[in-house]
Amino acid sequence: MHRLTDIGWEDYSALPLEEKKAYLERHDGGGMPYHTLFAQQFDRRILERLCALANRIRFINKSKEGALYLKGVLAHKRAMLYFSQPSSRTFLSHLAACQLLGITTGSVRDAATSSEFKGESHEDSIRTFSSYFDMIIMRSPEQGLAEKMAWELSNSERPVPILNAGSGKDQHPTQALLDIYTLVRSFETKGGVDGRTVTFCGDLKRGRTVRSLSYLLTDFNDVKQVFVAPAELQVPGDVIEILKAKGVRYEIADDLRAATKVSDAVYMTRIQDEWDNSKGESARIDTSRFKFGAEELALLGPDGIIMHPLPRRDEIATCCDHDPRAMYWRQMRNGMWIRAALIASTFGFEQEIMNCGY
Ligand code: NCD
Repeated sequence: MHRLTDIGWEDYSALPLEEKKAYLERHDGGGMPYHTLFAQQFDRRILERLCALANRIRFINKSKEGALYLKGVLAHKRAMLYFSQPSSRTFLSHLAACQLLGITTGSVRDAATSSEFKGESHEDSIRTFSSYFDMIIMRSPEQGLAEKMAWELSNSERPVPILNAGSGKDQHPTQALLDIYTLVRSFETKGGVDGRTVTFCGDLKRGRTVRSLSYLLTDFNDVKQVFVAPAELQVPGDVIEILKAKGVRYEIADDLRAATKVSDAVYMTRIQDEWDNSKGESARIDTSRFKFGAEELALLGPDGIIMHPLPRRDEIATCCDHDPRAMYWRQMRNGMWIRAALIASTFGFEQEIMNCGY
């Protein structure tokens, strides 16, 4: 059994992600994460268990009796939502997931309203939250902060789990979970996700959802990944290295229409210009050919789906919104169910919910 209390931060942080994984699991041997920090923690077996639990929670919640049962499952827990970067869906769906399970929540959405404004470090703030709450769900512009906090808290007198709701340009593991859940549900009655072609389009360089989802797709058999972007915003080398090492089929491309014709899912993303080094840098890139509109829709197969982590700007035309293949609205709601499944599993309640009488 690997524990974060048995390893110093320097040694732990030098490990490859696949080796870090064992340190982040719950200690009951079931393989579910305790801290959720990056996509590499989820293998096919865990993904299937989480999707099954999300379906179960979704079903139980349909009746009043079931919903009241769910509200009792974690009524003894409190969670802190600490979001120091803008968020609508990720914040609200985690909040709604907590509410489904009866968890009481607190939140800080702007460091200017917390003692960080008085000069308190992130580390001290998070230790403060751990004094009052049983879980910290956090989003930060700082890449390694959630991970450092997970190590710090595990080595403190009050260890509580950390759930990474977006870390800089790096990872967004719970978004990748909801994306996988959406793919699994979309292809459930059509032969499943194995063997599919998924195209990513937009700002693949700075979009953290792409890095996390690209990794999770490697857990499926023979899924081809196509990366369509302007050269300046193409997918980073570390993502490609993983695909090469795992023998995954991929293609770097710049023709969205050609890719759409052969894709089962097209995953659009927004230009992440909040990371620009100089003002207007992204605006100088020609992104006109990286937008999904009526013409692309006409090229997408009848079983194909369009996904987007949202928020969108103009990369998906609103004329696509009512097409049954537009999956981005359902993706949002799927986020609530899969996050509820992850939170329940983090606290060790997977089996209880799976086996309850509802
Ligand atoms: C994404 C994010 O924050 O990385 N949003 C989200 O969580 N749904 C994508 C984005 O902001 O473009």
